[in-house]
Amino acid sequence: MSDEEDAHVDLLWLKSIMKNELDLRPPFLARVGKNCIFIRNEKGKPIGHLLLSNRWAGYEINSFVIDEEHRGKGLSHELLKRIEHYPVFCYTRDLRLQSALKKAGYIEAKFPGLIATLNLILTRLGITLWMILSLDFKRLFHQIKNVTNYKLYKRS
Ligand SMILES: CC(C)(COP(=O)(O)OP(=O)(O)OC[C@H]1O[C@@H](n2cnc3c(N)ncnc32)[C@H](O)[C@@H]1OP(=O)(O)O)[C@@H](O)C(=O)NCCC(=O)NCCS
Repeated sequence: MSDEEDAHVDLLWLKSIMKNELDLRPPFLARVGKNCIFIRNEKGKPIGHLLLSNRWAGYEINSFVIDEEHRGKGLSHELLKRIEHYPVFCYTRDLRLQSALKKAGYIEAKFPGLIATLNLILTRLGITLWMILSLDFKRLFHQIKNVTNYKLYKRS
């Protein structure tokens, strides 16, 4: 398969997972390419993914997913090991990801920094607006309901 076909397969896989995982961003924001990290099986099929989004003063880990069939096998640790960007931070309410982040040296924090926060406000407003326009109310209400459960982890 050509690189373009591979990228198309990756994108379809990512979108199908993001569609069902309401803690993640809407599938229209699925991206493959720059700042994406994939873990693949022996046939080259994607089984794990994360995206690093530039937040002006650091990178945010987004769309952190492991294929359902491969969860619970320690692959979250593998993905985190491949991040080479600094500083980097992640908001999550998932206990498995929180455990993996702590093991990878991330520390719980209250604030990602002023510049990163400005970026996050703008981006989150855009995503919320998109969820409203695309009638993705299930995701929107799920995220609003759980907003206080998200914790921030940082690595400098
Ligand atoms: C969250 C997710 C990425 C974790 O990946 P994973 O490869 O299944 O996780 P791992 O097997 O590496 O397990 C990570 C840790 O969680 C622990 N764990 C597993 N199930 C757990 C549970 N139900 N509660 C608490 N900890 C659990 C594991 O023991 C492991 O602990 P360790 O750090 O001591 O090794 C994966 O479950 C997923 O894709 N979930 C859906 C998408 C999602 O919610 N992503 C987070 C977005 S914020």
